[in-house]
Amino acid sequence: MQDIILCQSLEENLTQAVSSCPHDRLFVLTDTETFRHCWPLVAGIPCVRDAQMITIPATDEHKTLETLSTVWTALQQGGASRHSLMVNLGGGMVTDLGGFAASTFKRGMAYINIPTTLLSMVDASVGGKTGINFGGLKNEIGVFNCARSVLLDTTFLRTLDHQNLLSGYAEMIKHALISSTEDWAELMRFDLDQVDYALLQQLVAKSVAIKERIVTEDPTEKGIRKALNLGHTAGHALESLALAQGRPVLHGYAVAWGLVCELYLSFLRTGFPQRTLQQTLQFVRGHYGSFPITCKHYDQLYEYMTHDKKNQGGVVNFTLLANVGDIRINQSASKEEIMEMLDFFRENC
Ligand code: GLY
Repeated sequence: MQDIILCQSLEENLTQAVSSCPHDRLFVLTDTETFRHCWPLVAGIPCVRDAQMITIPATDEHKTLETLSTVWTALQQGGASRHSLMVNLGGGMVTDLGGFAASTFKRGMAYINIPTTLLSMVDASVGGKTGINFGGLKNEIGVFNCARSVLLDTTFLRTLDHQNLLSGYAEMIKHALISSTEDWAELMRFDLDQVDYALLQQLVAKSVAIKERIVTEDPTEKGIRKALNLGHTAGHALESLALAQGRPVLHGYAVAWGLVCELYLSFLRTGFPQRTLQQTLQFVRGHYGSFPITCKHYDQLYEYMTHDKKNQGGVVNFTLLANVGDIRINQSASKEEIMEMLDFFRENC
C-alpha cells in the first residue's frame, strides 16, 4: 500500500520518500503548467538535483496514447530501467498518465506522486488508479498500481484558481457524504470564498483518510470502493453532455451536480433524508451554479449513463445512500426513476 504523507516540509518529506525507494535513475514528470508554477518549489531540493525532466502538454485532452508514447520514449532514451523512479508533479492528468507510464515501462518501475491540485490531492493521486483516455472514452486504458508515496503539500493550493478549488472540493463532499454527518456538516460550513488554508489542510487530511480506508479494504473496486462512485454516474453523463455541446465543465462541477442527482435518487430509492438533500442542493447551487438542461437532453443523458463502464449486464448502476455514511452499492434504477431524477435536477439546479 502507499504511504500518504501530509507534508510539513516538502524538502524533508520528498528526501525521505526518494531515499526509501532505492533507484538507479530518477525522472520527474510535469506538464507545461506545473513545470512553470510548481517545479520551482521543488527544483532546489538536493534529492532531485540529478533528475531527468520530462514535460508533457497540460490538460485532459493530452491524456492520450501519443503523450504516453512520448513519456515512454523519454524514459527509454534516458536509460530508465525497472529500478528507476519517477516523480509525478501535477494534477490528475499528470499523476494518472505518469503512474501508467511508470507502471508499464519495463513491466513497472516505482513512482511517487506530488499532486498539485485539490482534485488530485483528495482523489486522483491516491488509490492507484492510473491510465489514459482512449477511443473517445475517459480513463479507458489503465492499471491499478499505487504510488509508493503520495506527498500532500497544500502550499500548492494557494496558487490554484477558485474554479479548480471548487472542482476538488466536490470530491471532498462526496467523501464526507459516504463517511459521516459530522464530516459533511463541517464541509457545508467551510467558507470557500475566504479560504482558511490551515483548516483546508486538516479537511484535506480527513478526506484523504476516508478514501484511503476504502481503498485499503477494496483496492480493485470489487465492492466497497464503488462507494467512491457516488455522484459519478450522473456526473459523468453531465460532463459528457457538456463536452458534446461545446461547453466543457471541470470534472468536480459535474460531480457536484451528479451528487445532487444521485442524492435525489437516494431519497427516492433508499430513503435518504430530504433535509440533507436540500441542504446539499443549496450548497451546490450557491457555489457551483446551475447547469441548465431541458427534457430534450434526457435521452442523451440516459444513453451516456447506460454506457458508463461501471455498469454490468446492461443496467445502469448507482451507488446510493440511505443516509449520510450509510452506503448502498450496486443499486440499479429503472428508466422512469432516472427520468424523475433528471426532472428534479432540471427544476432545481
Ligand atoms: N476516483 C474514485 C476511485 O479512485 O475509486
